[in-house]
Formats: sequence, C-alpha cells, structure tokens
Amino acid sequence: MTTVNAPTRDHPATGEQPPPEARGRHRPGLRARMTGSASPSPRLVAAVITVTWLAVLAESTLVPVNPVLHRVALFVHLACLVVGFGAVVTVDWYALKWLLRRCQLRQVLAVADQVHLLIWLGLAGLAASGGLLKPDLGATLTQVKLLLVLLVALNGVQATALHRRIAAFAGPVPRWLLVRSVLAALVSQGGWWGAMAIGFLSSHPA
Ligand code: HEM
Repeated sequence: MTTVNAPTRDHPATGEQPPPEARGRHRPGLRARMTGSASPSPRLVAAVITVTWLAVLAESTLVPVNPVLHRVALFVHLACLVVGFGAVVTVDWYALKWLLRRCQLRQVLAVADQVHLLIWLGLAGLAASGGLLKPDLGATLTQVKLLLVLLVALNGVQATALHRRIAAFAGPVPRWLLVRSVLAALVSQGGWWGAMAIGFLSSHPA
C-alpha cells in the first residue's frame, strides 16, 4: 500500500524520528493516552448533530417577528461566519501548502487541532443565529442551504475522525487515508461556499 513517510510523530522540538520498530504503527492519540479517555464515537456525535439541526429548524418556526432581534441575529450570524469559516480556511490553507510540499503534514494536523473548536463554535453560532433569522423553510434555496449546513457538520465529524487516525500513526500514513482527508476538505469547502452563496442570494435577491 502507498504511504507518506513519517509525518506526525517526529519529536516536536528535536525533529527526531521514532525508532524504526515504532514506525507505521497505529497508536492511540496523545490526549487519549494522557487522560485514558476515548472520544465519543463519530456515530453518536453525528446523531446529536442531526437532532440539534432538526431542533433548530423547529425552533425557527416559533421565533416572533422582531426587527431588533433580526438585526442582532444577523450580526451574530455574520460574526460566526467569520470565526467558523475563517478557521476552516486556515486549516485548508495549511493543507494546500502541504500538498504543494511547502509544509509538513504534522503542521497541518497541529493547526487543525488548535482551531477545530473555533470551527465548531462558528458553526453552532451560525445555526443558533440562523434559526432566529426566520428562514423560509418552504423555499428550495433555503432547503438546499440547510442541507449543506448539515453536510458540513457531518463531514466535519468525519474529518475529525480522519485527522485522529492520521495523527495516531507513528510512521508512514497510508495514502488512502490522506486522499480521504483531502476529499473531506473539498466537501467542506463546497458546503461552506454553497451555504454562503445561498445565504447572500436569499438576503439580496437580484
Ligand atoms: C455554514 C453555515 C451558514 C453559512 C455559511 C451562512 C451564511 C449566510 C450568509 C452569507 C448570509 C447573508 C447575510 C447578508 O448578506 O446579509 C446568511 C443569511 C441568512 N442565513 Fe445563513 N448561513 C449559515 C447557516 C444558517 C442556518 C443554519 C440558518 C437557519 C437555521 C441560516 C439562516 C439564514 C437566514 C434566514 C438568512 C437571511 C437573513 C436576512 O434576513 O437578511 N443560516 N447566511
């Protein structure tokens, strides 16, 4: 199987390689090893996300018409867009640099690890504020946008699981795992740009 060599477990300060016998082995993540705790299963997280998404849609039908609330929610919506999508672009920028051989895979993983909370906070804020903006659930474009939001979130769960698997390799990472990670990044970009474009077009019809 094709692999990419020793990307993640060099010593961060010394750059030393792990011993040959440790390379290529799949090891539990650092956090799991330190705390002895495993992360919740991706399936459970995906189920919680789907239920939350449905709850936001239900809540959006109960929101009273209130211009002040609408303005505040729109401001929060755009602020969360900056935070969430800004963090996504940062990770994907590093991933692109890695593809162009301008940085190492472990740098991409380190950046993703640092900003992934921002991505989830941004997405949660977008969903919460979006619900207060009274989306027109009968409009096809809005339906597509909401499905894209769900896709982005579920794809994010998948991408997080893939990053953990890659980071757990002590040596060469199988190429199929990297290809899946790149595909997840492409799906994420498509989903975010699609949701942004539809949000903009529905707020500013031609
Ligand atoms: C990835 C997630 C999302 C992105 C990137 C996004 C992006 C945007 C953008 C760019 C706008 C246009 C703002 C403007 O031009 O003034 C917008 C507006 C809007 N969004 Fe979202 N949004 C997201 C999630 C959601 C969700 C989950 C909902 C509903 C539950 C929602 C409901 C709305 C509504 C109703 C508007 C129109 C606001 C108005 O009346 O001007 N959005 N969104």
